[in-house]
Amino acid sequence: MLKRFVSLIVTASVLMLMACGCSSESRKTRGSNYLGRDTDFAFLTEETDEPVLDPGKPGKPNKPADLPKKVGISLPTKNLIRWSRDGELMKKELESAGFTVDLQYANNDTSIQESQIASMIASDCRILVIAPIDARSLNKVLNTPKSNEITVISYDRLILDTDAVDYYVSIDNYLIGTLQGLYIVNALDLDNTPGPYNLEIFAGDPGDNNGGFFFNGAMDVLRPYIDSGKLNILSGQKKYDDVTTLEWRTEQAQNRMEALIATYYSDGTTIDAVLCPNDTIALGVVNALQGTYTGKYPVITGADCDIANVKCIMASQQSMSVFKDSSIMAHRAAQMVQEIYDGKTVQVNDTSTYNNGAKTVPAFLVDSVVVDINNYETILIGGGIYTYNDLS
Ligand code: BGC
Repeated sequence: MLKRFVSLIVTASVLMLMACGCSSESRKTRGSNYLGRDTDFAFLTEETDEPVLDPGKPGKPNKPADLPKKVGISLPTKNLIRWSRDGELMKKELESAGFTVDLQYANNDTSIQESQIASMIASDCRILVIAPIDARSLNKVLNTPKSNEITVISYDRLILDTDAVDYYVSIDNYLIGTLQGLYIVNALDLDNTPGPYNLEIFAGDPGDNNGGFFFNGAMDVLRPYIDSGKLNILSGQKKYDDVTTLEWRTEQAQNRMEALIATYYSDGTTIDAVLCPNDTIALGVVNALQGTYTGKYPVITGADCDIANVKCIMASQQSMSVFKDSSIMAHRAAQMVQEIYDGKTVQVNDTSTYNNGAKTVPAFLVDSVVVDINNYETILIGGGIYTYNDLS
């Protein structure tokens, strides 16, 4: 029932997308390897909806006879609920299928992540599930003498510049950005009101490939309004490199937002919308607005549905978040591990979009859904993600 509701919302989002002119044509402007944006942009083909099977990498059989039933899972941080939920769900499912699981969180520190992965490899984990902190920093650790025996699943974030990555499980991150952009368009009713409105823009960590997808998805929706003058960016900060947020940190977003308020909005000038790619950044923006800002409260986007942010949505301090269903994504990754271990063909639903600079990585993308004040109870409480107690 919930699944049907969610897919209705996803369909509605896609319809909204078509209505605002974001056709598949403009979606092709996203890059698969966003951090390679200074070089030629890879234009994409649309992803297919039907699962297709990937037979595994030639020369790296899915199941060598003596493959240990041991899996390493390396995630960026435990501090964001979504990562700890993803990790716990994968661990639970894999352990109940008889795997030994080494689950590690790296405190958003690239060198910690590298050494955790090195020790997973040394302790005979032959299948690794990794969400990289820095997309480009894992080449060395993954290209060990044993790398031909190791199968790597890139989780949520794509590992770049190495052919050591075999599969990718994620969400259509460009679509998440699109949904955030569309939310602003609809909330300000940009097509039917004269404006102009004031917008400020935040992007994610510069080392995370997803950051570029979110930014591109949102900016492809918002750019026409910026170009026509209906949306003003008083700070003038709209280039990706000017608006990134190191390690997606709340404090960094808060500092930048406080500086923007002090410089451009301290006289009560209204900020009508703040584009935030995820919830840690949205929280920093909310914190900053609670300081010296005296104007009308802006539309604020986010993603992850972290508890602190759902509370902000309930208090009308954040307008929306995008819910990425960890149970579906973690389940798919766990299933992939099982398929790899069993030597079965691996289910993917996209074999052309995600070129990581060294190869095109077969991917499985799962859906996401917009959550706001109108549907958080249905999606998050009805869906068993949180209880009313968690949110009080
Ligand atoms: C993920 C987001 C997450 C962010 C910070 C991104 O790669 O897609 O869900 O909020 O990293 O951890």
